[in-house]
Amino acid sequence: MALRTFACALLVAAMAGTAPGARAEDVKVGIVAPFSGSAAAFGKQMEGGIRAFFKLHGDTFAGRKIQLLIRDTGGPNPEVAKRLAQELVARDKVDFLAGFGFTPEALAAAPVATEAKKPMIVMNAASSVVTTRSPYIARFSMTLPQVSAPMATWASRNGIRKVYTLVTDYAPGIDSEESFKKAFTALGGQMVDSVRVPLRNPDYAPYVQRIKDAKPEAVFMFVPAGQDSIAFMKAFEERGLAQAGIKLIATGDLTDDYVLNTLGDPVLGIVTTHHYSAAHDSPENKAFVAAFNEVAKDLGRPNFMGVGGYDGMAAIAEVVKKLGNQIDGDKAMEILKNLKLNSPRGPIAIDPATRDIVQTVYVRRVEKRGGELWNIEFDKFTDVKDPGK
Ligand code: PHB
Repeated sequence: MALRTFACALLVAAMAGTAPGARAEDVKVGIVAPFSGSAAAFGKQMEGGIRAFFKLHGDTFAGRKIQLLIRDTGGPNPEVAKRLAQELVARDKVDFLAGFGFTPEALAAAPVATEAKKPMIVMNAASSVVTTRSPYIARFSMTLPQVSAPMATWASRNGIRKVYTLVTDYAPGIDSEESFKKAFTALGGQMVDSVRVPLRNPDYAPYVQRIKDAKPEAVFMFVPAGQDSIAFMKAFEERGLAQAGIKLIATGDLTDDYVLNTLGDPVLGIVTTHHYSAAHDSPENKAFVAAFNEVAKDLGRPNFMGVGGYDGMAAIAEVVKKLGNQIDGDKAMEILKNLKLNSPRGPIAIDPATRDIVQTVYVRRVEKRGGELWNIEFDKFTDVKDPGK
């Protein structure tokens, strides 16, 4: 038995290209995301997802242990994200950059990845343009057009004709508004008006009142997940839009699993389109949710950033398994470009032409089950690409 273990160790060492007895060097993965401030949950969810992956699949591949170097942007904070990415590459000599919750942070770090030829694994940042900013970026989250255009199709099929849009005034919001409008008007829908609100600390009440006065059939909206969902829903409730008969449709960022129960009963019945729900019914997702609950006890359920962390780490593990001791940026990108994974969200693939994700987008309704709110999937669009790519 002991002999067999020793032989096994030799084999692993040989595969990883290290001398027997010497431990192979760790693979270093720098995680750049907000871990403090109002978006602290972005980074914490990603880290929870990554640690859930380690829990289920181990943290050592081809004999090399994966070491995380966690860096907090306190963001949205593009200048800090860029500086942290530079330090991770130049001083810490990371093999991969990963994380990236906010689009502006990913855009700021992209030239660092290009310059250093380091793969940059995007676990959330979801404006369409992100992957075009460096040939070393691969995205394991979503794009806003990918999840917004299906909402237009669903709304149109369900008799909604006149829509007002509200989005945050930065790249992901503008992507969301434009892709919704394009798909909705192509199907004969009518845009009543559109409003864009500032990224930092907006007061939603005046915007929501303006929407109420315009009497659309529905509001379609995107705001970054978390604190903004809470602030928007507060205004929506206080101004009585539901009572005025105005429906609310949105991307799933609004009803994300991390804040869903904080939003409470006013979100019951709201229909959203998104790529992940903690309620997704599959053995892979059940295992993921259970592992996440063990490794991130104080975070509640995994949300879409949690699954982005899990899948991003699954992708890194695939590269390490194939390249072992020779992790070269260009070879890593060739592997990432052709990757297909069986994610807790369902099947995902990276489009080799764009390095962007292709996946199922689900239509979900907020329902109460066992005294808690959940996004219950009831329809889906399969193999969805970013419609602009
Ligand atoms: C982004 O900045 O890309 C972003 C942030 C939060 C979201 C979605 C996208 O919920």
